[in-house]
Amino acid sequence: MTREAVVEIHGLVAGYGRHQVLQQLDLTVWRGEALGIAGNNGAGKTTLLKLILGLIAPQEGYITVLGRMLDSSRVRRLMRRQIGYVPQLHTPGKMPVSVHDAVLMGRWGKGFGFFKRPSLRDRQKVTEILQEIGMSHKEWQEVHLLSGGEQQKVSIGRALVREAPILLLDEPSTYLDHGSQAEIVELIRAVRLKHGLSLIMISHDPEHLEVMSDRILLLKNGRLEER
Ligand SMILES: Nc1ncnc2c1ncn2[C@@H]1O[C@H](COP(=O)(O)OP(=O)(O)OP(=O)(O)O)[C@@H](O)[C@H]1O
Ligand SMILES: [Mg+2]
Repeated sequence: MTREAVVEIHGLVAGYGRHQVLQQLDLTVWRGEALGIAGNNGAGKTTLLKLILGLIAPQEGYITVLGRMLDSSRVRRLMRRQIGYVPQLHTPGKMPVSVHDAVLMGRWGKGFGFFKRPSLRDRQKVTEILQEIGMSHKEWQEVHLLSGGEQQKVSIGRALVREAPILLLDEPSTYLDHGSQAEIVELIRAVRLKHGLSLIMISHDPEHLEVMSDRILLLKNGRLEER
């Protein structure tokens, strides 16, 4: 069986202005793999995810997603549709948005957009995902009234509803109590298996990384090391 790379990075140098955060970083993520990434605060973990998402462009080196080189803003935008992203510390604003609508936003640019209203299929997908993440009973509640763990589930739901083959999770269990952490870990495991996702997960919790990942790398001095 040949292994297929879903993300390939070579010689990546990137950062903010003159502040270089990543230095000659290499990485290959294989289809179906769950990769865990650890590293100190400020090591560049979130920056790495933003590069894979094409939100930042490399200064040197290259990134491919599903075999496509991210070498223009058009391709970066296109390939972003293939990636579900659960951002670090996502706090919903004070806007009275329902759980249903918050998850539906994950299909922006895929199912609907500026000139295309959400279809029945988009709505059905939301209902399906809410069932899967155990949030159906809160479908019409406002997101900012939910607990931290429930909000994190909504964030995961928003990433899943895209039906993308790659999922990036930036510290999905930080700031949650033990019970909610365990639930989130179990949820991620279940959705990964069900949808056959390739997963890159960042966590400060070695135990979670151990449970969730096939392989764990450490981001240090701008590069990824084996642990
Ligand atoms: N938008 C930005 N503009 C300028 N510098 C930034 C920006 N975002 C991050 N940085 C800097 O880049 C470095 C890496 O930040 P990054 O958020 O990638 O770290 P991290 O590994 O995710 O840390 P943490 O574990 O705290 O989330 C830090 O020194 C940070 O200050
Ligand atoms: Mg971070």
